[in-house]
Amino acid sequence: MQRTTPTTTTTVRAWSGSAANMLAFILLMAATMAALGESSLKPDALSAAAKGTKWAVLVAGSNGYENFRHQADVCHAYQILKKNGMKDENIIVFMYNDIAHNSENPTPGIIINKPGGPDVYKGVPKDYTGDSTTAANLYAVLLGNKTALTGGSGKVLRSGPNDNVFIFYSDHGSPGVIGMPVGDNVYATDLTKVLKAMRVKKIYKSMVIYVEACEAGSLFQGLLPNNINIYATTASNPVENSYGYYCPGDYDHPDVSKYGTCLGDLYSISWMEDSDVNNLASETLKQQYNAVKKRTTMSHVMQYGYSGISRDFLSTYMGENLKSASSRVESIQSTSSSSAPTSRILFASQRDANLRYYQHKARKAPKGSPQSAKAHESLSVEIFKRQEEDRKINLIVNFLLGSTKSSMAFNTVRPAGQALVDDWDCFKSLVSTYEQRCGHLSTYGRKYTGVMANLCNLKVNKEQFDRASLQAC
Ligand SMILES: *[C@@H]1O[C@H](CO)[C@@H](O)[C@H](O)[C@H]1NC(C)=O
Repeated sequence: MQRTTPTTTTTVRAWSGSAANMLAFILLMAATMAALGESSLKPDALSAAAKGTKWAVLVAGSNGYENFRHQADVCHAYQILKKNGMKDENIIVFMYNDIAHNSENPTPGIIINKPGGPDVYKGVPKDYTGDSTTAANLYAVLLGNKTALTGGSGKVLRSGPNDNVFIFYSDHGSPGVIGMPVGDNVYATDLTKVLKAMRVKKIYKSMVIYVEACEAGSLFQGLLPNNINIYATTASNPVENSYGYYCPGDYDHPDVSKYGTCLGDLYSISWMEDSDVNNLASETLKQQYNAVKKRTTMSHVMQYGYSGISRDFLSTYMGENLKSASSRVESIQSTSSSSAPTSRILFASQRDANLRYYQHKARKAPKGSPQSAKAHESLSVEIFKRQEEDRKINLIVNFLLGSTKSSMAFNTVRPAGQALVDDWDCFKSLVSTYEQRCGHLSTYGRKYTGVMANLCNLKVNKEQFDRASLQAC
């Protein structure tokens, strides 16, 4: 049912008396509405309700200067929505917020997402920063549940059945998991539960989700139904890395060297640079998916959920500002000149991007200087930590399966369409047991969550895994 106009509201008050009167009134109104059809409603109110409001939730899952790019991606996404007419009250941002004023940032207060690019930090709402960037707060925001929040601005989705929701996430992922800057990971199964609950609560009409992360496909494969009006695309399939872009050592541009860290991620900058220059009201999600897939050459950009949504125009989810479309030709030219690489481009996987950061620091520091010594030490520590994580997980798997069978845990890949793991509770408990016994999984070590999923599929239980972890760590 559509909302009643102010005139009928007055009538309701006048009629309110006995319950019998009320019932008579309702029957009369129903008959009148049926007779008049939708024409009894004010056209403005009708079209506004039918069009709905666009909402967005933007999430950078990491912190630390070496992860500059994830917050840069999210800030850039905000600028796109803002430029296209979405209001701050409808855009909810999760970012740790330690980049703009980081002591390593050569341009304090400014974040760029491509070499020679504009400041994308300006105006970004600081809804959930620092300690409030948790998975629990993300779920509360998505479910529109203010009382479940801890800290933050208190902004949650207040959307209804006619509203569309766009979610963009950028960070490190691993099989079955995406990270948040603080506290627990977001597990694929929990995210799916939240999305299904959103559907039941009727807080969206259609939803589009873009995810930049390693193994991002594992968030949705075999989990996201195609009958709840959600369409998702991911930077990678369930078993591969996604890639940083504009990275030191890869991309030859003075800004990349100056910042000393990757400025963006390949899938993310591909959709955003596409949205920057095209008319969102005439490009469909499908067309954007194809453009992004073409440019994202290092991993397989995937689609999940209800593909019918991909026929919608980008403006249905990212805002529509007709004025901004006129600058199209100009922007294309400025984009291609400012970001043209002057030499070869290689790629740093999400997992190796922090290694690039330390390597670049070590290379850049004057030979023999204290900075150089410090940079080389940081690099060695990073490499050592990686070897330790390799060693621990190998020991655990050997202990559980024996050396001949251990490759089953490392190399088994589930067929397309099947979720990563059958028993998600087992999976979650192995990941948390590992972290309790052997230390927090690093960005690099997270790749082993896939091994833990395989162990669950091989019917290893929590107690066995706990004993093995005790032995190894
Ligand atoms: C909101 O979250 C609180 C705290 O987690 C919970 O008790 C409550 O049931 C939730 N409300 C709704 C409407 O889901």
